[in-house]
Amino acid sequence: MPSHSAPAARAQNLKKIYGTGETAVHALDGVTEDFAAGEFTAIMGPSGSGKSTLMHCLAGLDSATSGAVLIGDTDLTTLSDKAMTQLRRDRIGFVFQAFNLVPTLTALENITLPLDIAGRKVDTEWLDTVVGRLGLGDRLDHKPGELSGGQQQRVACARALAGRPEIIFGDEPTGNLDSHSSGEVLSILRAAVDEFEQTVVIVTHDPRAAGYADRVVFLSDGRIVDEMRGPTADSVLDRMKQFDTVVNAPTAQ
Ligand SMILES: Nc1ncnc2c1ncn2[C@@H]1O[C@H](COP(=O)(O)OP(=O)(O)OP(=O)(O)O)[C@@H](O)[C@H]1O
Ligand SMILES: [Mg+2]
Repeated sequence: MPSHSAPAARAQNLKKIYGTGETAVHALDGVTEDFAAGEFTAIMGPSGSGKSTLMHCLAGLDSATSGAVLIGDTDLTTLSDKAMTQLRRDRIGFVFQAFNLVPTLTALENITLPLDIAGRKVDTEWLDTVVGRLGLGDRLDHKPGELSGGQQQRVACARALAGRPEIIFGDEPTGNLDSHSSGEVLSILRAAVDEFEQTVVIVTHDPRAAGYADRVVFLSDGRIVDEMRGPTADSVLDRMKQFDTVVNAPTAQ
C-alpha cells in the first residue's frame, strides 16, 4: 500500500457555506483529508452530505469559503485563473455526471479534445487500450447525440483517462450505467491506479463500486465521519446500514 507516499490531493479544514444568515448551508463543515498518491478512494454519504461540493473543490471547479486544497504541492488558492485552468487541463481528469461532451464533435474528437487543446500528442496505444476496455471501439465516429447515456458517460471516462492525468475525480461516474458498463468503468479506473500509478477519487452511492476502492471515506453533514480500508461490497453495505440505524434511531419505533 503506497499510503506513506505524498498525498496527490489534500483538503485542509475545508469549509463551504452557501448563502448567509439563517438560510446558510454548511455544505462542507471543516473537512481535512489526504488522498494518497496511487490510491483509489471512494467517497460515500447520504444525499446532501457534501460529496459533490468536496469533489468540485478538490478538482478546482469551485472555491471553498475557507481552508485549502492542494493538488500535489500546489495550493489551489494561490493560483491565477490561467494557472488554475492549466492545472485542471494538465493534471486532473474529470468524470462527472453532466458529461460536458461537445455535441458537434465525434466521440473520438471529444476524447482527445483536452490533449488537442493542450497541444499534447495522443498516446495511441493507450488510447486504444482505454477505448477497447470501455467498449467504445465501434462508436468513435458517433456524435454524443447518437450515443446512449451510458455510452456518453464512457466517452467522458475515456476523455478523463486519455491524457493520463495524475489524479482523476469522478462524481458518480457509474451513476447511469448498467452493471456491465459500470464494471468496465470501475476496472479501468482500478487499472489506472494499479498499472499507471494514477490516483482516483470517486463519489458513489453503490457499495459494489466502493468495493473497487482501496479506501472508503464517509461524509455526513459536511464532515468526514468514518473511513474504511480494503472495502468489499458487503462490508460497505454493512457500514451503510449502521449509519442508517444511527440516523434513523430517534424516529425509529
Ligand atoms: N449552489 C448551491 N447553492 C446553495 N446550496 C447548495 C448549492 N450546491 C449545493 N448546495 C447544498 O449543499 C449541500 C451539499 O450538496 P452536495 O451537492 O455537495 O451534496 P451531495 O452529497 O453531492 O448529494 P447527492 O448525493 O444528492 O449528489 C446540500 O444541502 C445542497 O443543498
Ligand atoms: Mg452529488
